[in-house]
Amino acid sequence: MSTQRVLTGITTSGTPHLGNYVGAVRPTVRASRLAEVESFYFLADYHALIKTGDPARVQRSTLEIAATWLACGLDPEKVTFYRQSDIPEISELMWILTCVTGKGLLNRAHAYKASVDKNQASGDEPDSGVTAGLFMYPVLMAADILMFNAHSVPVGRDQVQHIEMARDIAASYNHLYGEHFTLPEAAIEDNVALLPGLDGRKMSKSYDNTIPLFVPSEQLRKLIMGIVTDSKAPGEPKTTDGSAVFQLYQAFASADETQAFAQQYEAGIAWGQAKEQLFERLDAEISPMRSVYEELMRDPAQIERTLKTGAEKARSVATPFTARVRHAVGLRSLDTQTTAASNKGSKPSAGAAFKQYREKDGQFHFKLVDAKGQLLLQSLGYTSPKEAGQAIGLLQRMGAQALPSLTVQLAFQAPDEQLIPALKTLTENQGQEK
Ligand code: TRP
Repeated sequence: MSTQRVLTGITTSGTPHLGNYVGAVRPTVRASRLAEVESFYFLADYHALIKTGDPARVQRSTLEIAATWLACGLDPEKVTFYRQSDIPEISELMWILTCVTGKGLLNRAHAYKASVDKNQASGDEPDSGVTAGLFMYPVLMAADILMFNAHSVPVGRDQVQHIEMARDIAASYNHLYGEHFTLPEAAIEDNVALLPGLDGRKMSKSYDNTIPLFVPSEQLRKLIMGIVTDSKAPGEPKTTDGSAVFQLYQAFASADETQAFAQQYEAGIAWGQAKEQLFERLDAEISPMRSVYEELMRDPAQIERTLKTGAEKARSVATPFTARVRHAVGLRSLDTQTTAASNKGSKPSAGAAFKQYREKDGQFHFKLVDAKGQLLLQSLGYTSPKEAGQAIGLLQRMGAQALPSLTVQLAFQAPDEQLIPALKTLTENQGQEK
């Protein structure tokens, strides 16, 4: 079994707030530290264009979100952290997937249907103000996920339908063109209670009730002082149930601290005092990250470099994979037609594919597996994904001829009668790509 691949994206159209931190950033950064996962995190800036037509906002948000993830402890050495629009293969894959996606499937997407319902309620044309981008949103998201053959996609409940659609789209492609895509599963963060905002409703940009994660300390304090409470006087016992102050505290404090806070509620703590304690607790967790964030925000060039390095890592997977997907649908060089036809006999090798993965020791490996899942080649560790990618490239270009120069890096090699025809098909396919 190869490592679990986990992938998730964040649309770059806003400023990260406490709800994003508790619901997405914090759990994801923690999960990314587990040895047995290989994680892909990206800034979904193509998706941002669906939500906003403000270029400055897209750029600003991309910077803020990248800085937030890094300040919150995401390690770009351990994970693959990149910007969607740095991977041109994603839009290419999107088109190929568009052609195996039923229009009816997209008609049923919640986000699209909500817009249509709203128009109908107000007596407008059903598609009034709906861009084709909004309509195609699930296909773009499927391309994000399927490109890296992610097994697990951590998302909020509102995104579950999109993961199901990605599965459907992957299955349609696989059915038509052979098994290329892993069917992804949604991993829903259910234990993270929705964080309340300033007005007690769910913290959300659409309610304009958010507390930005990295506002300066003084401003954080002011915002917290403005959280809506009931009008119980100091000394009067207060209920924790439905108290936004309490829920926010709980999201940051240990079980013991939370219990002590509940006791103070019973003892009639004044709201001003409760808010003061909430501020202190939040600030204690946030302020070390805030200093890193502020430093990063002062040096966008450094973030740009980090993202470019991440893009290289992502493309070492995306480029060869897209080449196979293109080939499978018939986007092939014409001069190899005869070879392909004369190759009919080599059935066992059809559909062999390289998989790149990272081991617990941080090293990069690849293997070659045939369509039935049988292992044909497995490498030892390379120190960078680029080196592993180069070895794959060599095998794709030179086939069996590349083997002698690679043997020191190989952990396993299937018998020649299985391996050689598979490599032959690969080089033929490869010849057709460029
Ligand atoms: N649509 C997601 C959101 O708004 C962001 C996203 C884009 C995403 N592509 C993705 C999430 C792929 C998971 C996987 O929350």
